[in-house]
Amino acid sequence: MFDFNGKNILVVGGTSGINLGIARAFARARGRVAVASRSQDKIDAALKLLGEDNPNAIPLGASFDVRDNEAVLAGITGLHQGLGSIDVLISGAAGNFPAPAAGMSANGFKSVMDIDLLGSFQVLKACYPLLSRPGVVLQISAPQAYVPMPMQAHVCAAKAGVDMLTRTLAMEWSPEGIRINSIVPGPIEGTEGFDRLAPSDALKARVAQSVPLGRNGQVTDIANCALFLASDYASYINGVVLPVDGGWSLGGASMAMTELGQLMAKQGGR
Ligand code: COA
Ligand code: NAP
Repeated sequence: MFDFNGKNILVVGGTSGINLGIARAFARARGRVAVASRSQDKIDAALKLLGEDNPNAIPLGASFDVRDNEAVLAGITGLHQGLGSIDVLISGAAGNFPAPAAGMSANGFKSVMDIDLLGSFQVLKACYPLLSRPGVVLQISAPQAYVPMPMQAHVCAAKAGVDMLTRTLAMEWSPEGIRINSIVPGPIEGTEGFDRLAPSDALKARVAQSVPLGRNGQVTDIANCALFLASDYASYINGVVLPVDGGWSLGGASMAMTELGQLMAKQGGR
């Protein structure tokens, strides 16, 4: 349905989980995809899959930590040399661990702020001069951006910032032809992020009951939305924070995230 032939797509944090699913969807839609994350092993494994998804385009990878601005600039400059202008940037690197605010060190709070928020800023800023006009940026946010969750003070603060960055840059960059939106995945099966917050099948089933559609999401639910938002079908959608969550944000997210947070708090974190 979507065709990204001739388009260059960069997925930062694209070597596992939701973001890898997004990268693969773009490759299957004939895009030329580059991925970046810290682990070279994960990059190599992702490049193999992406090469199978689109045998006509050699995928590219770069290893850097989004918290290290010099490494971000060097990595993205290197990718740009191989890729050319970036038509679609997906910024999705994130870190999470459950911990109570009162028991979290300043460095623990900072590590998530630095990956999710500062890291996103550094990635977007490094890519800005290399983005096509028109170009598309998608940030991967989380429900914690607008649903307060016990044991998640760092993630709530960081992802709220990510969404405000989306809305602010839509004001600053869109006059040049760059659209920027946030996707907010609901609970997505088979991912590290969901496993960290709901670490058993029973808890995952409880979460599914709180989703109006009656199921947790799949990686493809998010990837399909990314294809749409990056396509010309979405050419007038800009500065939006879009939940892709089966209706979870209508109320169930608040109940389920409070319950999960309280359960983790009882267990004490770590
Ligand atoms: N509870 C409380 N504090 C924790 C913690 C936990 N479970 N895990 C890490 N921290 C603290 C550490 O103690 C440290 O603080 P300190 O120096 O004051 O002791 C700080 O966080 C940084 O920890 P460190 O292990 O050095 O971080 P890192 O940079 O190697 O890794 C993380 C970053 C902690 C976010 C790690 O979980 C990660 O790399 N995550 C990526 C994958 C992921 O989270 N996926 C889900 C995405 S939603
Ligand atoms: P994941 O598999 O752990 O993906 C995280 C990605 O970011 C990996 O590629 C990881 O690779 C990379 N990364 C982490 N820290 C990095 C750093 N400092 N620098 C560069 N890259 C880094 O997690 P996921 O659950 O699929 O989550 C993906 C995104 O969706 C995140 O933004 C998350 O907040 C969001 N989300 C997830 C859910 C869910 O249900 N899973 C729900 C809502 C929102 P390396 O380890 O190689 O660095």
